[in-house]
Amino acid sequence: MGRRPFIIDCDTGTDDAIAIMAALYCDEVEVKAITSVNGNVAHQYTSKNNLDLMEYLGFMDIPVAKGAVHPIMANGYHAHGTHGSTGLGTISLPEAKDKKFDKRIASELIYETAVEEQGELELLVVGPMTNIAISLLQHPELTGLIKHIWFMGGSAIGGNVTPTAEFNIWIDPMAAHIVTQSGIPQTMVGLDVTTAAAMKECHSAELRTCGTKASVLCADLLDYMFIRRDKGGEDALMHDAMAFAAAVYPECLELKDCYIDVECFGEYTKGHTYVDKKGKSKKEPNASVALKVDEEKFCRWLTDAIKKSAG
Ligand code: BDR
Ligand code: CA
Repeated sequence: MGRRPFIIDCDTGTDDAIAIMAALYCDEVEVKAITSVNGNVAHQYTSKNNLDLMEYLGFMDIPVAKGAVHPIMANGYHAHGTHGSTGLGTISLPEAKDKKFDKRIASELIYETAVEEQGELELLVVGPMTNIAISLLQHPELTGLIKHIWFMGGSAIGGNVTPTAEFNIWIDPMAAHIVTQSGIPQTMVGLDVTTAAAMKECHSAELRTCGTKASVLCADLLDYMFIRRDKGGEDALMHDAMAFAAAVYPECLELKDCYIDVECFGEYTKGHTYVDKKGKSKKEPNASVALKVDEEKFCRWLTDAIKKSAG
């Protein structure tokens, strides 16, 4: 069997960078492109981070495309407190010299790749869903061309921007509403589950000893997160890599089919993900939703996934 074709749509972002690396070295997957979106930091930075990362790691042939500079339904906010001013914390990658951005905008690249892959393309969506929603609005037939969307976003309980909204969904609730209602098979890995597993110093030490460019970069990102945590900020949470784990290592998660949607307009509930765990709405489930994670299994898997960069 061939490798599973994936596009990673992201707002890189410290934990996005780790998710990208986990996917790049995964034997089962072929990363067809990386597309960026406004989110953790402004679009210039998320795009630059993707381009710099891919050249730094030597993936010169994988297209990197710029995406939406603004949400469809704007919530102007960035997560500088968590990801630093440029998105990669205190880490600065060498600036890409030879690698150039793909000429296509993300929404077009996604559509064209989906057509080429004839229904086999999977999307790992770990930022606001603006690019995917635009692509769906431009090409409604995309619905039948995407095999599965694995997304980090939302929460079955609680939020991190408002009491009921998670960052990726809150930034662009309308985009998330369009995607969750699209009919594309999808798996949601939300905040209530991603916050239940944090990487530890022992994982960072193991990755640093491994000694590849990717593993040392991952260790640097983790060490930045430990300092952030010790100052009272977010722990070394691997939100985005956990959405990739759902795709290739679902054994570390407990999943349930549920009906989901996104609230776009409530004064207090804008960006809230409605997750009908108990089937009260009587609506057919449209997503598989992660409800629990085995922290030890997940952290072991992720450490090993990055160590695959050693060949
Ligand atoms: C999500 O927001 C970003 O800070 C992370 O990269 C993740 O995608 C968590 O709410
Ligand atoms: Ca992200």
